[in-house]
Amino acid sequence: MIIGIDIGSTTTKAVSIENKKLVSKIKTRAQDAVTAATGAFGKIVSENDIKIDAVEKIFITGAGSSKIKNDIFGIPTKRVNEIDAIGIGGMYLSKMNNIIIANIGTGTVILEAGDNGIIHFGGSGVGGGTILGLGKKLLQIAEFADIMELAKTGVLNHVDLLLGDITDTSISFLNPESTAANFGKMLDTAAPADIALAIINMVYQVIGVLSVFAARARNTRQVVVTGNGSKNPIGKKIFTGITEMYGIEFIYPEYAEYTTAIGAGLSD
Ligand SMILES: Nc1ncnc2c1ncn2[C@@H]1O[C@H](COP(=O)(O)OP(=O)(O)OP(=O)(O)O)[C@@H](O)[C@H]1O
Ligand SMILES: [Mg+2]
Repeated sequence: MIIGIDIGSTTTKAVSIENKKLVSKIKTRAQDAVTAATGAFGKIVSENDIKIDAVEKIFITGAGSSKIKNDIFGIPTKRVNEIDAIGIGGMYLSKMNNIIIANIGTGTVILEAGDNGIIHFGGSGVGGGTILGLGKKLLQIAEFADIMELAKTGVLNHVDLLLGDITDTSISFLNPESTAANFGKMLDTAAPADIALAIINMVYQVIGVLSVFAARARNTRQVVVTGNGSKNPIGKKIFTGITEMYGIEFIYPEYAEYTTAIGAGLSD
């Protein structure tokens, strides 16, 4: 059995892999990388009755993995490049090859995985961490779930300047509901719910359009979305709007928040 651990900037994920297949998975959170790695290992082993002797190797990846210098609990421990891990995990979960992957974590990574190997296109500092950071300062809300709940009743048009606000004619393929400027309107009467929605909208519009450009550059019409950000219901709705406008489809594999950990575990 192989254990893959992804020490992300916000959350740590661990998976167990047997015969190149995902068997179990856990999520945890810790302040420092060593506690995250040992805690994640302890959690996956105890929750799934895994015998420590059965663990052949541990593969670690993610932002915090560079801080793990030694073997974990004496088990051979190897570091895996995070981009490679996302690519391998994304192909495994989507059962697809030659794909564009947008990994939405604390920040966002966009890459291509397939016959040409795993190619890092780039990314954006806009991601889940942006939602949490702006939520904290603009809404005085620290909990992710609370920001999501608030955003449900938000009205985008109170915060974003929409195309319909500035012109009666349509511009190219854009419709009157398209955002002309994120936060460009910001009515004095904008409510916290409106701002919560506008934050999520900005993050997903930026990532969505970057993904569209990446897909077009590679002549594909599909983008696989991974990371915790692939589970955001409002974000998915915003991506649906992008699909309608640009004709690029977003695919959300099951367990996509474990993509990086799975890819590490499969990179043997
Ligand atoms: N229950 C939750 N608690 C905290 N954050 C959540 C939760 N659900 C979703 N999120 C979002 O997920 C983001 C973290 O995603 P993920 O765990 O994929 O990132 P990461 O792997 O830690 O970071 P990165 O890959 O960028 O280093 C948070 O910034 C937040 O926006
Ligand atoms: Mg991550």
